[in-house]
Amino acid sequence: MFLALYVIHHIASAFFFCTVVAMLPLQSFPKRSRFYNILGWVAIIFSVITFLVGGLLYFTYTWQLFSFWAIGALLSWLAAIFLLAQSLSKRPFVPQLATKILLTPLAMTAAVLSLEQPPLLGTSEVIVYALVGGGIIFLWHYINVSRLHRKRLAKGAISILTISGILGIFLVHQHLSYLPGVMSMNMTSDQMQMNTISMKSVADLTAPKTATHVDHFNLVASAQTVKLSSGTTVDAWTFGGTSPGPTLRVTQGDLVEVVVTNHLNVPTTIHWHGIDLDNADDGVAGVTQNAILPGKTYTYRFIAKDAGTYWYHSHEAPADQIPKGLYGTVVIQPKHPKNERDEVIAIHTWKTNTGNRLTFNTADTLVRSSFSPGTKVRLRITNTDAHERWVQLLGTSFKVAALDGQDITNPTYLNADRIEVAAGGRVDITFTMPPSPVQIGAPDNPDGPAILFSADGTGSRIAAQPNAPIFDMMSYGTKIPGALTINSHFDKSYDINADQYIGFFDGQFGIVHDLNGKLLPYTKMLIVHEGDVVKLTFRNRTVVNHPMHLHGHHFTVLSHNGKPYTGSTVRLDTLQTKPGDTWVVGFVADNPGIWMSHCHNLNHAAQGMDLMIGYDNVTTPYTFGPATPNKPE
Ligand code: C2O
Ligand code: CU
Repeated sequence: MFLALYVIHHIASAFFFCTVVAMLPLQSFPKRSRFYNILGWVAIIFSVITFLVGGLLYFTYTWQLFSFWAIGALLSWLAAIFLLAQSLSKRPFVPQLATKILLTPLAMTAAVLSLEQPPLLGTSEVIVYALVGGGIIFLWHYINVSRLHRKRLAKGAISILTISGILGIFLVHQHLSYLPGVMSMNMTSDQMQMNTISMKSVADLTAPKTATHVDHFNLVASAQTVKLSSGTTVDAWTFGGTSPGPTLRVTQGDLVEVVVTNHLNVPTTIHWHGIDLDNADDGVAGVTQNAILPGKTYTYRFIAKDAGTYWYHSHEAPADQIPKGLYGTVVIQPKHPKNERDEVIAIHTWKTNTGNRLTFNTADTLVRSSFSPGTKVRLRITNTDAHERWVQLLGTSFKVAALDGQDITNPTYLNADRIEVAAGGRVDITFTMPPSPVQIGAPDNPDGPAILFSADGTGSRIAAQPNAPIFDMMSYGTKIPGALTINSHFDKSYDINADQYIGFFDGQFGIVHDLNGKLLPYTKMLIVHEGDVVKLTFRNRTVVNHPMHLHGHHFTVLSHNGKPYTGSTVRLDTLQTKPGDTWVVGFVADNPGIWMSHCHNLNHAAQGMDLMIGYDNVTTPYTFGPATPNKPE
C-alpha cells in the first residue's frame, strides 16, 4: 500500500508540476481557451489526489514529510482553481499583473512542497522560475511591441526562456553535484570549536600490538578464476586466492593479526564487518586508513571481542570490489567452544557470461555434504550481496541461534520458516543432524543453490516451500533482563531518514537515495560523546529496501513501526528497512572513533547513502575523493 500511495503521489505531483510550469509563462490568461481549461482541470484533479494521498500517508505513517505534501497540494489546488476561473470567465476578475505576481510564487512553492525534492527543486529554482515568469510579465506590460507580431514574438521568447531556464537549472545542478577532488570526514569547524576536550586521531585508536594469544593470518589480494559447482568460471578478485576467501577462525579474546598484501592493480582495504574493533583497523579507505596501494602490504590488528559470525570485505570502492569477490567469513569461536560442527555459507551473486548466478559459497546448483546423525550443526550464513536473500532449512526442525553474530536468548524450534538475511547481515542456524537428509536452500530460487547434508553424502533435492511462514525476530526467544528498551533513558536521539529523489550525484543523473536529505560527503555527522546511550530512528520513506549498517557497534532493536520487541533482545549491525518502515534502535557509545553508517545496498552507498557517527573528540587525518586513491564507497 505504501508503494501504491507513493507512486500515485509522485505521478500526481509530477503532472501537477508540469501543468503549472506550462501555465506560468502565459503572456496573459487565455479567455475561453479549451487547452488551458483542460490544463486547469488536470491541475485541480491531480492536486486533489496529492492532497488526499499526502494526508492519508501522513495519518498512516505520521511522517511530517507527508503533511508537507498535503499542504503543498492544498496550495496548488487553490492556485489551479484560480487559474481555471480566470480562464473560464470572460473578463479576468483580478488584474493580470497582480495575478501573476501573486500566483507565481504560490504555485511554485506548492509544486516544490508537494514534489518534496529539495535538492533538485530547491529555493533557487523557485526564485529562478519566479524571476523568469515575473520578468516576462513585466516586459509584456511595459514594452509596447504591438506593432510586431506580438503573439508570435511572445510565444517564441517564452519557449526559449523556459527551455533555457530548465536546461540551465539542470546544468547548474549537474555542475554542483561533482564531488570535490579531496574530501574529509572531519567534523565541521564549529562543531570542533564547541569541543574543549583534547582531540584524538583515528590513527591512534589501535588495538595492542602484542598479546598472549595471537591469531596470525596472511591474505594476498589477487585476480583469480573462480569455478562454480555448475562448471561456470568467473574472473574474480580474491583474498587468499579463493572467493569466498579463507574463513578466518579465531578465538574470543585473542589478538587477531592479518597481513594483507595487495597484488591487484587497484587499491584495496579490508573492513571487518560486524566486529566491534578499534577504529584504526576498521578498514574504511579515506576515513580510518589510506587504501593499500598495488604492491603494498598493510597489517590489521583487532581483539576478537564477541564470539559469533562476522565477515570481511573490501571497503575501497566496495560496490565494485565485493561483487568481484573480495570477501570472506570470520568465525570468532567462544572461549569455551560448544560441541558443534559448523559450516560457513556466504551467499553471493556472480556476474557470469551466462547471466547472474546466485551461489552458496561456490555452489550455484545443489551440492552435497555429510554429517553423521546426532551431530550438532551450526550453519553460519552471510549475505554478501547488495540485496536481501532468503534461506530455508528443510528436513528437520532448527533454531535461529544468532543474528549478526549476537546470540538469541532461548530460541525455540522452527520448521521450514523462511529467513530473510539483510544485505551484509548474518544468521546462525543450529540443528541436530537427523538420520534423514537436511537441506539449506533459497526458497525463492527453488532450482538454485542448495546444500544437502546427509549421513552418506547422497540424496536428492528437497522441494522448497515458498509459502512457509516468515521468521520474525521481534517475537522470537526471550528478553535479556536489563537490556535497552524503548523506555530506556537516552542521552542523544537521532533520526536517520532514507528518502529518494531524482537528481545528480557526481554529475550522473538518476534516482538517488539520501540520508537526512543529503548525500555523502554532505550528510551531517551525528555526534556522540563517549558513554552516551544513543537512540537512532531509521525511517525508510522510499520505495525500495535499505539494509542499514553501523560500523563499530551493535545496536539493540527496540521497536518496529511503533511495536516494541516482545522476544529476545536482538542486537544487530545490519538492519533491513523496508518501504514505510520506522525502526527504533539503541546503542551505547562505547567505542570512540569515526564510524560509518550506511546502506549496505552497495550501489546506494556508492551514490552517497552514507553518514558518519563521530565521537566528539576524534578527528581523522585521512582524506578521500577522486583526487586521492581512497574511495570509501
Ligand atoms: Cu559491510 Cu561499511 O560495510
Ligand atoms: Cu539503500
